[in-house]
Amino acid sequence: MDAKLNACRGAMEHVGDGMVLGLGTGTTVAHFIDLIGEEARNGKKFVCVATSFDTEMMAKRNGIPIVSLDQVQQIDLAVDGADIVAKDHVLKGGGGALAREKVVAYFAKKFLVVIDEGKLKLKEYPVVVECLPFAYSTVMKAMEGMGARPVLRKGGGKIGPVVSDNGNFLLDCSVAVKDAKRMEQEINSIPGVVENGIFTKFSKIIAGNGKGWREL
Ligand code: A5P
Repeated sequence: MDAKLNACRGAMEHVGDGMVLGLGTGTTVAHFIDLIGEEARNGKKFVCVATSFDTEMMAKRNGIPIVSLDQVQQIDLAVDGADIVAKDHVLKGGGGALAREKVVAYFAKKFLVVIDEGKLKLKEYPVVVECLPFAYSTVMKAMEGMGARPVLRKGGGKIGPVVSDNGNFLLDCSVAVKDAKRMEQEINSIPGVVENGIFTKFSKIIAGNGKGWREL
């Protein structure tokens, strides 16, 4: 049985009928979207906010009602994946959706991070920084000043930089994360930075494996 699916089954234990849900982005949370779709087709009522175009399209295909953030007063539960997890933070942004993901996760009453437990062994991942296209060079210099090696993300299917769902550029910055909270704030204080992939506020990690899941 799929470890990512099992992590999402664990997250389903926290879901109640009528909840306002924040739907993250990525291959792990895709299973959660499928499970919510199943429940919705069985008559459960959810209102969902999506964190990317990809998630919005996936949810709509599943018959899940999607609203914009300004249509909800609160988010009861947000569920999202992560690239690596540490004790006091997780790193996100591999799929380039970090800015909306953080808005939704930090606004939610409860934020669950769902991962394949194999990710618990991973130690290194770049800190992803979303920035205004106008400011990418100055943000790169500031990141270098913090000891990072930033690389402007380029993608397949398009020549040139990857442009996020928000119309911004993404910098993959190799850097050691020591004081996560301080670093999260320090990066966001660089002019031109929209958001970064260090998440220091979450309720629980749910790690799935071939047999089931455990909460950390
Ligand atoms: C999207 O930008 C990311 O933050 C993803 O949530 C993260 O990369 C985890 O993705 P997977 O579930 O596909 O590994």
